[in-house]
Amino acid sequence: MQRSALRAIVFSSISMLAFAPASAEQEMNDDGKVAFNNSCRTCHSFKEGDNRLGPTLHGIIGRKAGSVEGYQFSSAMSGSGITWDENNLDQFIENPDKVVHGNAMKPYGGIADAAERQKIVSYLKTLK
Ligand code: HEC
Repeated sequence: MQRSALRAIVFSSISMLAFAPASAEQEMNDDGKVAFNNSCRTCHSFKEGDNRLGPTLHGIIGRKAGSVEGYQFSSAMSGSGITWDENNLDQFIENPDKVVHGNAMKPYGGIADAAERQKIVSYLKTLK
């Protein structure tokens, strides 16, 4: 093999390594997006102001539960006193009634798989 070709291969391997962290993160978000699409998108949009059957999930992390303007929440949700964070979102999507008893997110079966929930919560973090 010619020296210049070898150098080109070594160089491109190094630059691939350099870019690996960014693309790994991208891949994780793509996974999260797929998981979100599978389990949430029937009822929720990620776009600001876009309320469907459920309220928009844009900016959900750090938002007070039941506070989106123009959406009619159950009194259980608006009176829950919760502010959404990674931890209570994870519990909510595992079993909504355990976190906000009597909420109106139905029919929704819950997600038992912790890894799947983690993907969705990571994705929700990007919606701001
Ligand atoms: C069958 C429709 C449906 C599905 C599927 C669904 N939701 Fe909901 N979601 C709702 C409805 C309706 C509400 C409003 C509940 C209330 O007012 O009590 C809600 C409320 C929420 C809230 C509270 C929002 C706020 O502003 O306080 C969060 C968070 C949420 N959903 C996350 C999710 C996630 C994440 C998924 C997917 C894992 C999901 N939902 C799947 C219908 C759905």
